[in-house]
Amino acid sequence: MKDIIRVAVDGPSGAGKSTIARAIADRLSLDYIDTGAMYRAVGYKMLQQGVALSDAEAISRLLDTTDIDFRHGDTVLDGEVISDKIRTPEISKQASDCSALAMVRRRLVELQRKMGGEKSVIMDGRDIGTVVFPDAEYKFFITAAPEERARRRFKELAAKDGQITFEQVLKDINARDYNDTHREVDPLRRAEDAVEIDTTNMTIEEVIEFICREMKR
Ligand code: DC
Repeated sequence: MKDIIRVAVDGPSGAGKSTIARAIADRLSLDYIDTGAMYRAVGYKMLQQGVALSDAEAISRLLDTTDIDFRHGDTVLDGEVISDKIRTPEISKQASDCSALAMVRRRLVELQRKMGGEKSVIMDGRDIGTVVFPDAEYKFFITAAPEERARRRFKELAAKDGQITFEQVLKDINARDYNDTHREVDPLRRAEDAVEIDTTNMTIEEVIEFICREMKR
C-alpha cells in the first residue's frame, strides 16, 4: 500500500456505510471521517439559530463562522460535542435539505479535502468518490434494498423512540433517496470506478471482510 491512502465509501442512507467505515478505520489504522455528520452539524446549527433554507446571506455568515471537527469518534461543532443531537429524524431531514445548497456543499467539500489531504482516511458520504476525492485509491459504493435499510434504521430508532413506525421510517428513507439523487448539485451516484456492494443479504462482518480483501489485491 502507498503511504497515504484515501478510501471513499458512498451510498444511500441506512446502507451501513458508517458502521462499515468505522470498523475498517480501526482495522487498518485510518482516520474515519463521517461527512454526513458534517451536513447534519450545519443543519443542526441552522435550526438552532432559526436560519431559513432560503436565506443565502445568513447561511453564508453561518458557514464562515462554523468549525466542524471529529474528536475520539465524536462530532464537534464550534467546540461542543453534538454527536447525540444530530441523529434525529428532524435533523436527518434538515441535513438532506441543506446538503442540496451549493454554498453548503462548497464549504464542506473544502473542509473534507483539507481533512483528507495529509493523512490516510476513510471517508463516507454521497460524493466522496465523485467530487471530494475523484482520485481516491479505493472507492466503494454500498447499497441495500430500501426495505432492508428501513428495517435496520427502524431497529436503531425504535430503541430510542417507542412511537416510531416502520412505515414512517421507510417513507423517510424513500424521501431522502429521492432528495439525495435528484438534487442539482453533486447528486448521489456511483463513481464509474467504484466497486458496488449490495449488502441486502450480507452481514456487516461480511462486507468488512470483502472490502479488506479488495484493498489487499
Ligand atoms: O449519511 P447521513 O445520513 O448522515 O447524511 C445526512 C445527509 O447529508 C443526507 O441526506 C445526505 C447528505 N450528505 C451529502 O449530501 N453528501 C455527503 N457527502 C454526506 C451526506
